[in-house]
Amino acid sequence: MTPGQDRPPRHSGFAALLPHGVEVSETGIDFPPARPNAQEEALVREAVGKRRREFAEGREYAHAALLRLGRPANAILRGERGEPLWPEGVVGSITHCEGHRAAAVGLEGDVRSLGIDVEQNEPLPEGVLEIVLAADESREELAALGEAARRRTGHPVSAERLLFSAKESVYKAWFPLTGLWLDFHEVTVRFGEDGTFAARIRRDAGPIPEGVPGQMRGAWSAEAGLLRTAVAVGAQDWDGASSRPSQLTRDARFFHR
Ligand SMILES: CC(C)(COP(=O)(O)OP(=O)(O)OC[C@H]1O[C@@H](n2cnc3c(N)ncnc32)[C@H](O)[C@@H]1OP(=O)(O)O)[C@@H](O)C(=O)NCCC(=O)NCCS
Repeated sequence: MTPGQDRPPRHSGFAALLPHGVEVSETGIDFPPARPNAQEEALVREAVGKRRREFAEGREYAHAALLRLGRPANAILRGERGEPLWPEGVVGSITHCEGHRAAAVGLEGDVRSLGIDVEQNEPLPEGVLEIVLAADESREELAALGEAARRRTGHPVSAERLLFSAKESVYKAWFPLTGLWLDFHEVTVRFGEDGTFAARIRRDAGPIPEGVPGQMRGAWSAEAGLLRTAVAVGAQDWDGASSRPSQLTRDARFFHR
């Protein structure tokens, strides 16, 4: 598939999790050409080889997604807190994990902010779940989520990794709107029956800035050893569910209350 011409199918990968109008490019679904860029390379010159490759490949997918959106960029630079700097009028997000890279972009008029995260479907390293769980989330709820997701997908799903990923996506969507840090325990995620989730944000350090939503909607999937989560803020007529087939049975009971 040639970036900028064909579009990835919307029934798989991140495209299935995001509203229409958001353009996605990712490993295994399309194949952007290597695109060495001196300005971008300079941002990671001091980093180890693995990180330089990950950074460059993430940007290759981001450029491919921008091309599809009709908003190509010379270079995607980086803000002070690591956030990608998109062309004027564009919002987006980049993610990578071992063996996978992805980027999603949209026009500000269609969506206010985006956050995407991909993770290997594996338990979190020892001690990380304690940091990720908010006071009103529990290991029991996670066990129920993992069980329902396993029944639905036919394979084990690491619910703790899914929760972690959802919060990473929330942060990536939150930061460009606010410029503020958010801790894991300041976000509570409730997973829906149908592959959606809702995140509620309560900051310790102060109120949520005016005009920024305290609730964000997202969607998730577990396919081929990968967990994907995606958050879109301010997309019209989108509740996380509209762009893809239902992934979980109606009777699966997750975190919803
Ligand atoms: C920034 C962070 C979210 C990245 O997530 P990750 O799972 O480690 O790594 P991923 O590969 O999925 O994402 C990395 C990409 O996130 C993007 N990113 C980094 N900082 C960002 C920020 N402040 N805002 C938005 N996007 C950011 C970058 O594009 C980065 O890739 P690049 O450096 O190659 O451009 C994570 O490292 C972090 O700092 N987390 C702490 C804050 C947090 O998650 N709080 C959760 C509470 S809700």
